[in-house]
Amino acid sequence: MVECVNVHKEFEIGDIPLSVLSGVSMRVESGEFVAVVGKSGSGKSTLLNIIGLLDTVTGGEIIIDNVGINTLSDSQRAILRNKRIGFIFQSFYLEPSYEVYKNVEIPLIIGNTPKRERKIRIDECLRKVGMYDKYKAYTHTLSGGEKQRVCIARALANNPRLILADEPCGNLDSVNTEVIMQIFMKLKNEGNTVIMVTHSHEEAAWAERTITLKDGCICQWQTKIT
Ligand SMILES: Nc1ncnc2c1ncn2[C@@H]1O[C@H](COP(=O)(O)OP(=O)(O)OP(=O)(O)O)[C@@H](O)[C@H]1O
Ligand SMILES: [Mg+2]
Repeated sequence: MVECVNVHKEFEIGDIPLSVLSGVSMRVESGEFVAVVGKSGSGKSTLLNIIGLLDTVTGGEIIIDNVGINTLSDSQRAILRNKRIGFIFQSFYLEPSYEVYKNVEIPLIIGNTPKRERKIRIDECLRKVGMYDKYKAYTHTLSGGEKQRVCIARALANNPRLILADEPCGNLDSVNTEVIMQIFMKLKNEGNTVIMVTHSHEEAAWAERTITLKDGCICQWQTKIT
């Protein structure tokens, strides 16, 4: 479960404050697949980064599995991020000088997973995204869709229950987008929580609920009628 309670975020540009989130409150239950949409600059990435502990609030609170993260120390936040949250980026951020498997291994090494167990996790995650046959390929040789699937495998390495994706298909064509959306549906059906930021209403249609951000606030909740 993820809850945002009256979340505020201001950036300082020079001496001028810029209010990006001005009182966002929302709750995402475990096992839900939620899309966040809104115009460019509406604060989607800022909100996702805050939920993913990559950034901090200037007001309000984020609660993950009943724990308020404001009270956590830096090292507790780092552990939570490593073990419980998988982050997927539009631009992948894979290490090009590493093979596919080594990219997936990074969060496992950070999490002190023993070598034998690392191998099991890497195999499982690469199989899940259909990239096991590229185990030893260097990531700079992969197509965009393949890179994103490796990025998802890396995000899943520590078996996190919360998957956060910021424009995961922003650089992909419709065929690869469908492959990624099917993976998210599978993750959701396995009980994981998926929060995806997107510009695309076609992608948002895969989610059960869509949240629209406007002027730093949630202006619309939409639940898919099935
Ligand atoms: N580190 C920062 N310092 C200053 N301003 C920032 C910072 N990060 C984001 N902003 C500003 O906050 C606003 C919201 O940015 P954000 O990246 O969250 O928007 P977004 O909805 O994800 O947009 P896009 O759809 O273009 O990705 C923008 O005006 C942006 O310039
Ligand atoms: Mg963004």
